[in-house]
Amino acid sequence: MSILVFDSGVGGLTVLREARVLMPDRRYIYVADDAGFPYGDWEEAALLDRMTALFGELIERFRPELFMIACNTASTLAIDHLRKVYPEQTFVGTVPAIKPAAERTRSGLVSVLATPGTVKRQYTRDLIRDWASKVNVRLVGSTELARLAERYARGGMVDEEEVLREIEPCFVEQDGKLTDIVVLACTHYPFLVNRMRKVAPWPVDWIDPSEAIARRALSLVRQGPPEEGRDIAWFTSGAPDAATQRFLGGFGLAFE
Ligand code: DGL
Repeated sequence: MSILVFDSGVGGLTVLREARVLMPDRRYIYVADDAGFPYGDWEEAALLDRMTALFGELIERFRPELFMIACNTASTLAIDHLRKVYPEQTFVGTVPAIKPAAERTRSGLVSVLATPGTVKRQYTRDLIRDWASKVNVRLVGSTELARLAERYARGGMVDEEEVLREIEPCFVEQDGKLTDIVVLACTHYPFLVNRMRKVAPWPVDWIDPSEAIARRALSLVRQGPPEEGRDIAWFTSGAPDAATQRFLGGFGLAFE
């Protein structure tokens, strides 16, 4: 039995690398719904239908022990629904790290950087209501950053001016106080965090929840002998371009 890590593109690799640190004995299947990328732009009902059908197929094809949905846009929309439709499966989701941000902020100004889909979800609004009611939370939807991260994965190039344009709305100055935490609420963004740090108007803490997600998965997997077999990648488009395959190869993933 193996662990299936799911995302719309390469972003879930930021979660996969943390999962491997904590669960080095497991076998990993990395699935990207790249034919549906970017998830951030989808209409909710259509994306929910697509994911429900796709997960049915993934259960049949791979029969993993556990699904890590390494995508905020997908988890905030579909995790409750997938748990209902596939009750025998174990799902670990990735949702915006609003609670730790609210606990850690000193200025009381927190920004959540995410896809437009995650920003408009009721799930995200509920997290703010439940965990951050005393904090000023700004939701910043970026249409470009996930694409920039995909481009980075293909060729290592990033346009820093574009990065700045996307992150600038996260930086708020209010009553002499400054935003001190930016939540990276899309799994693609940790690939760009060094560039974000470089171009940011002032230093902030960037919260990347990958390790916490891996810890949650660790608490749910069964202990047992190491899994046999290579780690593989499976993309809904069939096969991504050669540059992406090289990038995945760097993560020790072979193509199915
Ligand atoms: N990696 C996904 C997330 O965590 C989003 C990328 C996309 O728009 O498909 O939200």
